[in-house]
Amino acid sequence: MDDIVCLKNVWVEIDGKTILQDHTLNIRQNDFLGIIGPNGGGKTTFLKVILGLIKPSHGNITVFGNSPQKSRPFIGYVPQLSNFDHEFPINVWEVVLMGRLSKRPIFQRYQHEDESLAEEALKKVEIWNLRDRQIGRLSGGERQRVFIARALISHPKLLLLDEPTASVDSKMKTKIYELLSELKKELTIILVTHDVGVISSHVDKIACLNCRIFYHDSKEITPETLEAVYHCPVDLLAHGIPHRILKTHEDGDNCSC
Ligand SMILES: Nc1ncnc2c1ncn2[C@@H]1O[C@H](COP(=O)(O)OP(=O)(O)OP(=O)(O)O)[C@@H](O)[C@H]1O
Ligand SMILES: [Mg+2]
Repeated sequence: MDDIVCLKNVWVEIDGKTILQDHTLNIRQNDFLGIIGPNGGGKTTFLKVILGLIKPSHGNITVFGNSPQKSRPFIGYVPQLSNFDHEFPINVWEVVLMGRLSKRPIFQRYQHEDESLAEEALKKVEIWNLRDRQIGRLSGGERQRVFIARALISHPKLLLLDEPTASVDSKMKTKIYELLSELKKELTIILVTHDVGVISSHVDKIACLNCRIFYHDSKEITPETLEAVYHCPVDLLAHGIPHRILKTHEDGDNCSC
């Protein structure tokens, strides 16, 4: 199967501090990879490296066989929402159309094609009825769907989502995961989440990230890996994780960052 993202001995250092330590992994076509890890562990940084927004200090990364910058038109990104000003006076339709900005010359009006794609994306995430609503007047779950639609409007081949289920109730979480399960038939998906307890029911593979990355090309997580990543008792974290993924591995060593 084709490799979509390949990292080889990738390190990221910012202001002399190691943020990502020696990441080597391949993400294949139609993988649905979940990334878990504690706050400040480097998950957003990892996504930004794939997007080409942060350059590795050492090592090599390719996306679709090219540099991340060259491959950016094929990547959809749903950023961590805390970075967005919800009071900005803009409606759902305009936010979704903004996903087309990189495809058009600056200052050119949106074309009919852009509007058709926006309609398609809004219908896909089932919020077509909310298209005229101001972004600040949506619920958290509805807003997440807007940002997913914005990422989908250009038909990306790789979709990166940074905590799309944060501050969303369990019913809306389930709806978002169902939507992602549909999308994974046509896309490769990398999802950052703190939903440690439910993630394994939805994704095909799980990586644990806390400066170092623990990844076995499967969704097995061991108690040792969780403890190494979260630096706290495993029982707490293992609660809610199906027993079938808690098989024993021998490589749950500590992150030295
Ligand atoms: N531009 C930057 N300058 C300095 N430090 C940074 C920068 N970006 C990230 N960091 C640091 O890198 C570390 C990892 O940050 P990152 O945002 O990737 O973590 P995260 O795993 O996404 O956390 P969270 O779960 O809280 O979103 C943190 O210690 C953060 O303070
Ligand atoms: Mg983050």
